[in-house]
Amino acid sequence: MEKILDLITQKVSEAFQEAGYEAAYGKVTVSNRPDLCQFQCNGALAAAKQYKCAPIQIANAVAEKLQSPDFSMIQAVMPGFLNLNVSDEFLASYLEQMRTAPGLGIPKTGEGKTLVVDYGGPNVAKPLHIGHLRSAIIGESLKRIYRFFGYNAIGDIHLGDWGLQMGLIIAELQERQPELPYFDQDFTGEYPEEAPFTISELEEIYPTASAKKKEDPAFAEKAHNATFQLQQGRRGYRALWQHIMKISVADLKKNYDNLDVHFESWLGESDADPYIPPMIADLKARGLTVESEGALVIPVAREDDKKEVPPCILVKSDGASIYATTDLATMVQRMRDFAPQKMLYVTDKRQSLHFEQVFRAAKLSGIVPEDVELEHLGFGTMNGKDGKPFKTRDGGVMRLEQLIADITAFVRSKVVENQIVSANQVDDTTKKIAMAALKYGDLSNQPTKDYVFDMDRFAAFEGNTGPYILYTIVRIKSILAKYGDWENLPIQPAANPYARDLMLVIPRVSTALEAALAGSAPNQICAYIYELAGTVNKFYHETRILGEENKQLQAGYIALMGLAKTVLETCIDLLGFSAPEKM
Ligand code: ARG
Repeated sequence: MEKILDLITQKVSEAFQEAGYEAAYGKVTVSNRPDLCQFQCNGALAAAKQYKCAPIQIANAVAEKLQSPDFSMIQAVMPGFLNLNVSDEFLASYLEQMRTAPGLGIPKTGEGKTLVVDYGGPNVAKPLHIGHLRSAIIGESLKRIYRFFGYNAIGDIHLGDWGLQMGLIIAELQERQPELPYFDQDFTGEYPEEAPFTISELEEIYPTASAKKKEDPAFAEKAHNATFQLQQGRRGYRALWQHIMKISVADLKKNYDNLDVHFESWLGESDADPYIPPMIADLKARGLTVESEGALVIPVAREDDKKEVPPCILVKSDGASIYATTDLATMVQRMRDFAPQKMLYVTDKRQSLHFEQVFRAAKLSGIVPEDVELEHLGFGTMNGKDGKPFKTRDGGVMRLEQLIADITAFVRSKVVENQIVSANQVDDTTKKIAMAALKYGDLSNQPTKDYVFDMDRFAAFEGNTGPYILYTIVRIKSILAKYGDWENLPIQPAANPYARDLMLVIPRVSTALEAALAGSAPNQICAYIYELAGTVNKFYHETRILGEENKQLQAGYIALMGLAKTVLETCIDLLGFSAPEKM
């Protein structure tokens, strides 16, 4: 379906043309004076310069040509504005088309295109912390938005499963249990199926080893060595690595499932490893690399750079490959396996320079063809109320599980206290509200900005919050349920001003979703549904719906509520949460 603004623009453009002016002046916008009109066109003011006459003269001429039953008001006002209202019939028929079209009639502009969204990015064997939360929430939302527009969107978790943390765990384990066969170079038998640790042990082993590395150079050396040998393929270490992976990935899956975040691809840095040697050989052979202080690099600086962009390092002087190497090799794999039109990376904005270097190297080398888009969405930090990165009470790194447990407990107490639902629904309702609080609290901010995590505010049932949006949906659901069969009721012309306001806000969903897509900005959706929810609630307060005696009128109200519900639910699904039945 065409956007309502485009339809009106078309009509006004034709009128400009018929009146003897250029059609391009007919651009219509939503009115910035809703008290005066619904839509406006300021084209006559600009046209006046070209045609050297008074703007009002042009506006009058256009208004005369515009006479159409689709408008209920066409006014040329000083100094040359066109103020427009569409007719209630026109609006109703537009909404009826939206109601009956798949996907609200919004064009699937991404059909036939593939996109890889690289998000999540947890590190195996390290507990998820809140830094991973934003990547998960924003990445999942963007993926869903792309998918809504028809893209084949592949979410890739890009596990950090190949770095020093693996060597640290292996080295620490060797100190604790040297008798294990994994450390015996001469061992040729089958390794045990059972891992020599549980997930909670693993989560204790890593921080212990990591702390030890800082104090004990000999241990650090051991860990580096173990990492190197693991990457070289030492059999016992590979077997241990398999154990770590299996246990850790199962735990990660559980955590991401809990957040309703799902990945199509569970590849990691280790999966890029086989691509590294041939990639480097090829880059070298094509003369794209240079040696710099013993390292192998691709220079990526440009003359017009405002700040220094250091070369992209492929192989360090000690022979090890690094984060950038893995990211380039992963691109080789993605181009081969998915041939995407775009790769989108969602990480902390402190990684911006890394992605700038990698993207440039990828384009320079042709690993990623020129016409494939690379985007890094660097997000800001989630801060505590003190304006510093969010921490636990004792100043430690906040684990994601803890944060979710805290907000869930907070919401649960409200749900229980207000006796919102019967006992057997408390869990489900609590979970849905908590997710909405957490995700909306994050996504309602521009992703690049820092924001303050404020549980009281995020979980409030009033104000610009996730729970308020859910509350609005639940209210609609309850009215629809009381009414009964509503799914096939057609939209009717507005019967009161509140219905009309609502009918004017509903079609703007397409603009909001397109802006979210174009700007990697789920906050556009939040801003839109906050306004929509407000308009729904106003309509609800001012209109007798279930008590209405005129059945025809009532059916129209119900149909409108039904469409508002569809729009709200479509939007929150794109944000990654859903509404309970009662609240
Ligand atoms: N594991 C990384 C981290 O914790 C994030 C990975 C992001 N994705 C990527 N392709 N580099 O910082």
